[in-house]
Amino acid sequence: MTSFETKDFVLRALLPADKDTILRWRNSDFVREHMFTPDPIAPSNHERWFARVLTADQRLYRVLTYGDRDLGFVSFARAEDSGGAWTWGLYVGELDAPRGSGSALGALALRHAFNELAADEVVSEAMAKNDRAIRLYDRLGFRRAGMRFITRTTPGTPEEVIIFFRSRAAWLADVPDAGGYASADD
Ligand SMILES: CC(C)(COP(=O)(O)OP(=O)(O)OC[C@H]1O[C@@H](n2cnc3c(N)ncnc32)[C@H](O)[C@@H]1OP(=O)(O)O)[C@@H](O)C(=O)NCCC(=O)NCCS
Repeated sequence: MTSFETKDFVLRALLPADKDTILRWRNSDFVREHMFTPDPIAPSNHERWFARVLTADQRLYRVLTYGDRDLGFVSFARAEDSGGAWTWGLYVGELDAPRGSGSALGALALRHAFNELAADEVVSEAMAKNDRAIRLYDRLGFRRAGMRFITRTTPGTPEEVIIFFRSRAAWLADVPDAGGYASADD
């Protein structure tokens, strides 16, 4: 299955008022557990990062909303050493988010990458033990490109990571209304 009900979910641009919410989400146990850098982010580091992203390309940072509720976050970056490939980091930060929030975030983020960022491909990695992310990537139509090991803590043991990709061509073939906008303010 590669098409999702994203009605009522919107990706909007990041606002200055999102600063504390994003830190709360990123530092929650639920999100940190699956991040490649699982240590809590210090508020001073977050301040610096947030000030930088507010002045960066506005298309690279998006907040998932449902009605008047903010639920999650996605950031995009060009993949290293690769012309048209982009990567992302995403999470649903609210534990009581409506069912389907992760699927909507992923589907809207794919649409945003292909339509607004003109990505040829989206590449992403998930910890092999992150069942929900792996199921999400499968649902979104990602294919597996391979795996690698990373050590997230010092000291620590290597953990398996799965590398996923979704090409623009495959997405266009799978998604009936591929041309629509993903975001509220594009
Ligand atoms: C990864 C993440 C975004 C995935 O979201 P998600 O949990 O799949 O979100 P959804 O609500 O869309 O789906 C949850 C489940 O409910 C099901 N579901 C969703 N809406 C449904 C509906 N209307 N009716 C029936 N089932 C539904 C989905 O199919 C899914 O089932 P599955 O787990 O058996 O596949 C989320 O878990 C998260 O933010 N995790 C922490 C951070 C993280 O891991 N980020 C990714 C790093 S690579």
